[in-house]
Amino acid sequence: MLLFSTNTNPSLASELCKSSKFKKGKVEFTKFSNNEIIIQVKENVKGKNIFVLGSTFPPVENIMHLLQLVNALKENNAKKITVIIPHYGYARQNHPFYSGEPLTSKLLAQFLKISGATKIITIDLHDLENNIQFFTCPLKNISAMKVLAKEFKNIKNTVIASPDIGAEDICQEFSKHLHSEPVIVLSKYRPKPNVVQKTVAKKFKDVQGKNVILVDDMINTAGTIAKAIEFLKTHGAKDIYIAATHPVLSGSGIKRLKKSNAKKIVFTNTIPFPKEKKLPNMKIISVGELILDNT
Ligand code: R5P
Repeated sequence: MLLFSTNTNPSLASELCKSSKFKKGKVEFTKFSNNEIIIQVKENVKGKNIFVLGSTFPPVENIMHLLQLVNALKENNAKKITVIIPHYGYARQNHPFYSGEPLTSKLLAQFLKISGATKIITIDLHDLENNIQFFTCPLKNISAMKVLAKEFKNIKNTVIASPDIGAEDICQEFSKHLHSEPVIVLSKYRPKPNVVQKTVAKKFKDVQGKNVILVDDMINTAGTIAKAIEFLKTHGAKDIYIAATHPVLSGSGIKRLKKSNAKKIVFTNTIPFPKEKKLPNMKIISVGELILDNT
């Protein structure tokens, strides 16, 4: 099957195209002199089932590339267009934080449908329960918890913790793969975007002397995780481990992770992570196998 990709996940695209399932679709991205993007699909896609790989994280050009690529395939009469979005950026804009804000997650989902997507595949879509309603074409969400959990199977005396209420479901899924006990759930107070002021316990049990694995869908400024660690340490937790699907890591993200003294931090490659920023205790695993198993 032909797989076309934008420039957001180059090594994941190559990994997928090395498999027997996908063949790289030829496409050219250029610009007019006024900087408008122009795309040309260089394959005959008429009547074919096509796959597209592209994330929607910033810069915003990534979104235009994806929409135009999907639309080029539609206009050239592809039969079905399955869009694989490793990291669906803008998913956190699924409700207004302040009045007067748009619903950008919904807007983007609508654009994808209009551009020609007939099916969308996401990986650990943020706030799945609420975001799923915005997609008017079939959506399949793949959980990366199985591959993340594998990385922690040798750690003993563990408790799995959700750093906020929103991550409880993925934590339950993670803990299922480790055959672990029910998770503990923390709750954070975010007075404004990018700021976590306080973390308290929602569902709690004794963590004294226990190794705690914190699981989240994404880490951005690492404010959420840092406050959760502070809380767990105050309650006597021993070593802290971190598992998260999307390494968004903007602002003070890396600095806070470094300061966290976590024993091990595991992310996936839904967002490419520059080698030079990698911390010694950090590991990036691929979601390639998961995508191959689910397409
Ligand atoms: C939020 O609800 C997500 O699940 C993450 O906890 C959050 O986006 C992480 O953001 P930050 O690292 O900036 O606290």
